[in-house]
Amino acid sequence: MPGTLIAGNWKMHGFAADLHQIRDIVAGLPASGPRFEALICVPATLVSRASAAAFGSRLLIGGETCHPQPTGAHTGEISAEMLKDAGASHVIVGHSERRRDHGERDADVAAQAVAALRASLVPIICVGETLAERDAGATLDVISRQIHGSLPAGAGPGAFVIAYEPVWAIGTGRVASVEQIGEVHQFIRNLLLERFGPAGSTIRQLYGGSMSPANAAGILQVPNVNGGLIGGASLKAADFLSICYSASKEAAGT
Ligand code: PGA
Repeated sequence: MPGTLIAGNWKMHGFAADLHQIRDIVAGLPASGPRFEALICVPATLVSRASAAAFGSRLLIGGETCHPQPTGAHTGEISAEMLKDAGASHVIVGHSERRRDHGERDADVAAQAVAALRASLVPIICVGETLAERDAGATLDVISRQIHGSLPAGAGPGAFVIAYEPVWAIGTGRVASVEQIGEVHQFIRNLLLERFGPAGSTIRQLYGGSMSPANAAGILQVPNVNGGLIGGASLKAADFLSICYSASKEAAGT
């Protein structure tokens, strides 16, 4: 069983004045303990300063997207190598907000994941259906297409993380039920086992979408949920830490 990863996604939030949240998380995390990792993905402008604030602690810092190329004439873009250079260990790719706002398709997401691996970053590859797709009964078809299209060709199973984020649950306060989460996570696990054989059981699958201190413990107990990708509730150290403590208890089996 993969260890638990609690990952924050600050999205387009955060100024220098908010770096105390990183320092507060560092101060509040359990110093050691069960197989559990904590990560905050911040806007590119903060990666370097957040990394400095977390240096020497067990809190990891990540980026929120990356360009497929390492360098080049792509004004405004940021490469995986640049995130790595700034202190990141992970990068989110294919978040539904980027698929929506920037027209990123599965092949683009796969190219970004390849770039992340090239730069020795762990890509967190996001998939998830819209409400219209769920209502049409197409959830598992959509997830299957996204998983097949977005995973980097040739990557080993230990190199990346998957995040299942139903689009209708993101930022809406409408969390998926444990039955819905369990069904999709089991489905993804089966796809991973088909592709990677038994090693597919070691790939981390995060749930994301309105995860909060109030619902985290229940979600983290769902089979094949190996952590969370947390937006709104990662902006406040106290909320993020509360979810981390739920994860740490879950990892310890208590
Ligand atoms: P949310 O965002 O927790 O605010 O719903 C999750 C995400 O988009 O990663």
